[in-house]
Amino acid sequence: MDQRDQQTPAPSRRDFIKTSAAVVGGTMASSLVIPGAYAAGTDEIKVGLIGCGGRGTGACVQALSTKQNVQLVAMADAFRDRLDGSYQNILEALEDKKTRVQVKEENKFTGFDAYKKAIALADVVILATPPGFRPIHFEEAVNQGKHIFMEKPVATDPAGIQRVLAAAEKAKAKKLNVVVGLQRRYQASYRELIKRVHDGAIGEILSAQAWWNNDGVWVHPRQAGWTEMEYQMRNWYYFVWLCGDHITEQHIHNLDVINWALEAYPVKAQGMGGREVRKGKDYGQIYDHHYVEFHYGNGTILNSQCRHQKGTMSKVDELLIGTKGKVYCDAARITDNKGNTIYQFDKKMENQPYQNEHDELFAAIAKGEYKFWDAERGARSTMTSILGRMATYSGQNIEWDKAINSGINIMPTTYAFDAMPPVVPDADGNYPVPEPGVTKFF
Ligand SMILES: NC(=O)c1ccc[n+]([C@@H]2O[C@H](COP(=O)([O-])OP(=O)(O)OC[C@H]3O[C@@H](n4cnc5c(N)ncnc54)[C@H](O)[C@@H]3O)[C@@H](O)[C@H]2O)c1
Repeated sequence: MDQRDQQTPAPSRRDFIKTSAAVVGGTMASSLVIPGAYAAGTDEIKVGLIGCGGRGTGACVQALSTKQNVQLVAMADAFRDRLDGSYQNILEALEDKKTRVQVKEENKFTGFDAYKKAIALADVVILATPPGFRPIHFEEAVNQGKHIFMEKPVATDPAGIQRVLAAAEKAKAKKLNVVVGLQRRYQASYRELIKRVHDGAIGEILSAQAWWNNDGVWVHPRQAGWTEMEYQMRNWYYFVWLCGDHITEQHIHNLDVINWALEAYPVKAQGMGGREVRKGKDYGQIYDHHYVEFHYGNGTILNSQCRHQKGTMSKVDELLIGTKGKVYCDAARITDNKGNTIYQFDKKMENQPYQNEHDELFAAIAKGEYKFWDAERGARSTMTSILGRMATYSGQNIEWDKAINSGINIMPTTYAFDAMPPVVPDADGNYPVPEPGVTKFF
């Protein structure tokens, strides 16, 4: 099951979302009333979209499809063509709700600083650029006192994780609602499964498995006239500073489910990976497979695999193995150790988690409630994926504490289209690819 959501129009709301919102499985804590302009539930809630690509467009449509009086007032993207495409797609997807799009021409911003201007005009911001920029944008949104929906991953390096953790503390102090787009946390079936795990349905969790194996994603080949910075920004998936590699960009979903079930993060990891099939200049520097063994403090071991190789078996799923039974997440089933089903989620009761993220967030904001502080756990699950990547790139055993406190910063020093990105091609146009046994972090 591939849950990527590229430019999908918002599906219609379903009645049971209201009831499932009360079943939170570790997602929400008790509500605190926040002071604010929306307590009366009548004022409009202004949204700013930062990163007008496939997901940003989809998330924006979902925000504008909630029951609240939400209006899109500002858009920001590195590139004008992306912003214009998104604007059109939002209008088309909304059909009968076009009046919710109120973006004046002067409130469409482009370039590296565009985010600051769009954030300033909004009450709630959607952060959906490539993840390398997330710490900068999240920090700014918190400093400007805005509620936030931000896509996963929330960083690509340990320095970015620390920046998000620090801003997350500030967001808490300011009672800013923050939802992170790890949508399984907002999915009815996952909430039911994990609630039962926490209630002891499978006993103590001994081990787990997680998969994100499929064909991979788009490629944007270099075009004449692009600077190196523009090329990397447009073909961002294949550059670690922008994307984090696919273990971070996609597999984070599965790693987060295991962290959620265990209510913990790994203490160390070791693994292997490389580029076996997806080679060549267009694929930058990332791997096409990673296999990682994550160790948790209580002794639980997670075996995780992610692969982008065309023509191979597809599987996106998680499995939890406990002393009393197993949880098959995609099948939404719990069995005892003899294989008898002891719980089966009724898939007819599934919600649309991408929509639910926004339904719950905007309902809380409209009521003046402080209900969501996802940033810290989003950062720690992102760090889990970075830990795995450091293990596969180096071929070494990597400890969480050392990695998260390493200060490793892979982002550019200057953000400009004529500036050099942190990684550049050699004379033949090939990018440096990490080599286990040679690549070192410590
Ligand atoms: N939760 C999910 O299932 C899910 C699904 C898809 C994507 N995502 C996440 O959403 C994010 C975006 O992915 P996408 O598929 O929409 O990519 P995309 O390439 O379609 O969109 C990214 C947009 O950000 C813009 N951008 C890049 N740098 C920018 C900057 N510094 N300032 C402003 N705009 C900038 C790009 O020009 C582009 O329009 C990623 O973090 C991805 O992991 C999440």
